[in-house]
Amino acid sequence: MSGRRLKIAITRERREDEPRVAATPETVSKLLRNEGVAEVCVERGAGAGAGILDSEYEAAGAKVLPDPVAVLDGAAVQFAVRAPPEEAIPHLPRQAVLVGMLDPYRLNGLLETYAEAGLTTFSLELLPRVTRAQAMDVLSSQSNLAGYKAVIDAAAEFERAMPMMMTAAGTVPPARALVMGAGVAGLQAIATARRLGAIVSATDVRPAAREQVESLGATFIGVESAESERAETEGGYAREMSEDYRRRQAELFASELKRQDLVIGTALVPGRPAPRLIDAAMVATMRKGSIIVDLAAEHGGNCELSRPGERVVTGNGVTILAHRNVPGRLAASASALYARNLLAFVTPLLGDGNLRFDWDDEILAATVLTRDGAVVHPRFQPAPPPGATGAGTS
Ligand code: NAI
Repeated sequence: MSGRRLKIAITRERREDEPRVAATPETVSKLLRNEGVAEVCVERGAGAGAGILDSEYEAAGAKVLPDPVAVLDGAAVQFAVRAPPEEAIPHLPRQAVLVGMLDPYRLNGLLETYAEAGLTTFSLELLPRVTRAQAMDVLSSQSNLAGYKAVIDAAAEFERAMPMMMTAAGTVPPARALVMGAGVAGLQAIATARRLGAIVSATDVRPAAREQVESLGATFIGVESAESERAETEGGYAREMSEDYRRRQAELFASELKRQDLVIGTALVPGRPAPRLIDAAMVATMRKGSIIVDLAAEHGGNCELSRPGERVVTGNGVTILAHRNVPGRLAASASALYARNLLAFVTPLLGDGNLRFDWDDEILAATVLTRDGAVVHPRFQPAPPPGATGAGTS
């Protein structure tokens, strides 16, 4: 570290399908506002996928270096979009903070590597949905964009107009869109499809979603069941539903999907495979030219026929889009919002040249995965050796 200044490192994302970047010139200049507290090092080309030039980072006060090892050397904090690969870890000093969307349910052995390297890691997908955390809420900022983009992608594939058009040559009917899952992405998809003039309906398992769907001018469809009352966790997420509920939901969708032109799948259950809401038999009944956009594809898919990263056209002429990393398809906007989320999270940690952590703070407690050489998050404890007894945490 140079002097008492905290070095903040931003490297180029290593995953091929990740164009986003964890800091923008705007957030760099905000980090440097308190002179003498922090310095920012950015790897050359880190912002290229999001349309940010190295010279823009430099103009904001960052040092741009060609070598990622030099960027990480002596860093106090690394800002990341995705979990950095194993080979990058030895270059971060012990005690360094790594913060990003680390996808902890799918980190496999990497979490232990981070712990052994002495890193303090925070995964922002685990933020509690409390008011104070809203500015840091990466799931909201990224899902919001994904919901918008899903409808734009669907509209671009659709060979008809979305709004009703009354012309001298006659009337073109409006498209009908069904949004499955009315969380952050789903509500934005509803609003976007409505703006484009579609007739929109939406479904969710959480009863609270009905009012939100209706307030956006869409029709709510759903299964009436006592089970719905228990569908929402304390954190506001959905639970996995029973076999009986899923059967009734499937009956509803089987009749509904035949009438739809555009279907946007956004339904997720944290830490579980995405609910399978559309099976092949339902797709077979859909009209030629209909479009399904499956935002849940990377988590197993809401549609049985989704293939992550592929565009599938079925025998009956239904197109199924399952883009990977949909927020990354709007990399400039997604990076701008993500970088602000990160800034909001990290700013309280940067004291006057020393990192400080209040481990009683519910935001830090919910997001910290590793510290002091161990995996500390109760949900991601290493599995006990076979035969060991004692209470486990799931
Ligand atoms: P998510 O991305 O985990 O899931 C998307 C949607 O799919 C959810 O609405 C969920 O109920 C629905 N879903 C799950 N299984 C389903 C099934 N079998 N059939 C139909 N729909 C299904 O959720 P997201 O978007 O992260 O939102 C979760 C909650 O957090 C919502 O209640 C949202 O309003 C709330 N929230 C609160 C914030 C706050 O700061 N207070 C900020 C952002 C979201």
